[in-house]
Amino acid sequence: MSSVIPWASPLAQYRAHQAPIQSAINRVLNSGTYILGAEVEAFESTFAEYCGGGHGVGVGSGTDALILALKALDIGPGDEVITVSHTAVATVAAILAVGATPVLVDVDEAYFTLDPAALDRAATPRSKAVIAVHLCGQAADLDPILGFARQRNLALIEDCAQACGGRYRGKRLGSIGDIGCFSFYPTKNLGAIGDGGLVFSVEEKIVRRVRRLRQYGWNEAREPNEPGLNSRLDPLQSAILNAKLPQLDAHNSRRADIAAIYNERLAGLPIQLPTVRPDSDHAYHLYVLGCEERDRDRLRTHLAADQIGTAVHYPVPVHREPGYAERVVVPAGRLPVTERLVGRIISLPIFPGLSDDNVARVTRSITRYYRN
Ligand SMILES: Cc1ncc(COP(=O)(O)O)c(C=O)c1O
Repeated sequence: MSSVIPWASPLAQYRAHQAPIQSAINRVLNSGTYILGAEVEAFESTFAEYCGGGHGVGVGSGTDALILALKALDIGPGDEVITVSHTAVATVAAILAVGATPVLVDVDEAYFTLDPAALDRAATPRSKAVIAVHLCGQAADLDPILGFARQRNLALIEDCAQACGGRYRGKRLGSIGDIGCFSFYPTKNLGAIGDGGLVFSVEEKIVRRVRRLRQYGWNEAREPNEPGLNSRLDPLQSAILNAKLPQLDAHNSRRADIAAIYNERLAGLPIQLPTVRPDSDHAYHLYVLGCEERDRDRLRTHLAADQIGTAVHYPVPVHREPGYAERVVVPAGRLPVTERLVGRIISLPIFPGLSDDNVARVTRSITRYYRN
């Protein structure tokens, strides 16, 4: 009986870094500093440098990074934030958490990211920001999105939760809009051993505000001058992330190699393979293929029988999710591309520790499904 291939493996990530992670943990335990301090500052500055220069503020999660970014921009009740429905609910949860209204638009057919052509219709005098989600690691088309945002005086937030290390036109994702928000959820390209997130910006004013807001609204003298949250990146997680960061590019390049093998071996089957936006580096957080709707669940069952794990990111678009549907606005009424794709997508196993043999097992199993 062959072993199970999971679609993601935080355990493999841990094992690949076991010695440096253990030594990072020991260092923090023996430092006596268990909230913020030197370990967090070291990670914030190394990560900011990785993004091309600017400032990082370590926070409790990717969702909190988005909430703090919106708060730092003074976005709240009565304001509208434009984003996509084809995303993790966390993107939309963050908008609702600050009391603003999510305005959801469609994605494009080829790349499954925010369709810039949909923005005009979504904008109203209440619009304050656009959140561009780099879903699966694929860069959203930031040039036209940024052009639209600047023309309307809206802020641009990049949701980089799934795209750590990706690039658009040579620049790191997260460094192009006004604020980049990252998640270090354990399955992410740079995963912690628990929750974690980071807000990146080159604008000192935004960064100072996020630093206050992540900690009750305290300034450096620990005087609150506005209400804030408690959402601090943990020193243990910071030390672990700092130990893993030097390997991130190599791991993303292994993800790209796995994607290239899938592309080559699955070509010619009646499935839609992911297309990479020209002039961008896909971070391949996920490798998502599109099949006929009637094949989706059958193919997943077939792969499961061969001990191959898959996932669907995401089976229900946010504007159809209970608890969200009634709280969001869809100016176009319907989102045809999103609504069609959610019934057709499958996420195949992809993570740096996935062996070539296991990639071959996946492609053989899919090929067998279509040959029969
Ligand atoms: C696109 C996107 N945005 C935001 C988040 C939220 O990140 P976290 O789980 O760290 O709160 C996630 C994580 O699942 C995500 O995939």
